[in-house]
Amino acid sequence: MLNGKHIILGISGGIAAYKSVALLRLLVKAGAEVQVIITPSGKEFITPVTLSALSGKPVISEFFTANTGSWNSHVDLGLWADAMIIAPATASTIAKMAHGIADNMLITTYLSAKAPVFVAPSMDLDMFAHHTTTNNIALLKSYGNFIIEPAEGELASHLIGKGRMEEPENIVAYLDTYFRSSQDLKGKRVLITAGPTYEKIDPVRFIGNYSSGKMGYSLAHECAARGAKVTLISGPVSLKVEDTDGIEVIKIESGREMLSECEARFGKMDIAIMCAAVADYYVADVADKKIKRESEEIPELKLAKNKDIAATLGQVKTDKQILIGFALETDNEEENALKKLKKKNLDFIVLNSLKDKNSGFGTDNNTITIINKDCSKIKYPNMPKPAVSKAIVDIIVNNYLCSE
Ligand code: CTP
Repeated sequence: MLNGKHIILGISGGIAAYKSVALLRLLVKAGAEVQVIITPSGKEFITPVTLSALSGKPVISEFFTANTGSWNSHVDLGLWADAMIIAPATASTIAKMAHGIADNMLITTYLSAKAPVFVAPSMDLDMFAHHTTTNNIALLKSYGNFIIEPAEGELASHLIGKGRMEEPENIVAYLDTYFRSSQDLKGKRVLITAGPTYEKIDPVRFIGNYSSGKMGYSLAHECAARGAKVTLISGPVSLKVEDTDGIEVIKIESGREMLSECEARFGKMDIAIMCAAVADYYVADVADKKIKRESEEIPELKLAKNKDIAATLGQVKTDKQILIGFALETDNEEENALKKLKKKNLDFIVLNSLKDKNSGFGTDNNTITIINKDCSKIKYPNMPKPAVSKAIVDIIVNNYLCSE
């Protein structure tokens, strides 16, 4: 699985840096193209010459190459990589990653990386067990990074405990498994609705809601990254999808447009995730000219009900299709979410909690509970939306696709 992959190997200044040489060799042997970035203190432990000879590329350490003055672009590197591995990751590097202290090339590249990041900590047992380190590692996990747990054994201090960087063979196996499982939606077609709908009042006004589309777009990226063919039916949002993301985007404005795009495509889909905040009502008598304020009469809007898209798809869903909905509730959250799940014939529903301030419309985080058809529930802590997307897709893959 590593053949042809672009991998950044980040080496920070710890005694386990000697193992990075073996790791680099294994990665190259597996067919990966590896760019080494070493921190200034990493160079105290191993020389760039060894690493450059093994990787077949100049090793990057500084922002500028001293003899030519050319700039090493961490942004380009971040885009080039299919994965970034930081091994060894010292307590200091982990802390800098967790808090965005971008004072070396390794951290700036980490902050620019679009690819998954794997962190192999290496330090003395007490440093590893310290609250500061455990909190920093928890932060890195919450940002969606993968922690390759250190092993127990004899440490550089001769103390015995947890803190030894994982063996290079196991790090390579971890990556291999990741790339294998990361294609776990390969061949699946996924329909996702996202964002708000705008229901026209007159040529310049509409009824809408605060949905930013962040959750739906994040889900689209997660599904595409895991190999699915994604169609994203999006209401008006400011988010963009790059051509290279491999996501088909269909922009709509109203709930009725969203319904017709979904109905036209659902038959060919394996999975549909209804993430949009569809307006419940549309204006039945849209004014064809701007409604003017001069008139003494206060206009009354005649509303009509938008059809429930999720329920419409739920009625025609086959046993092979998986239909997922979201619920945003202010009271009797779980009871109401379960009612929606049954009414719309969903396989599971994702309940967004509005009780948590850092959650819901427009925020970068979400606090969710997944409720299955059999009423079983999984509650998650407040997490960034990409981590929420990963959790939702993991449930689809592990609990629903495997039972197909
Ligand atoms: N939904 C939909 N079409 C609609 C309304 C909602 O597909 N016309 C979907 C949403 O995308 C979400 C789920 O149904 O997956 C629940 O949406 P929500 O707004 O929480 O519930 P409603 O069914 O609209 O009920 P209410 O507004 O009364 O809570």
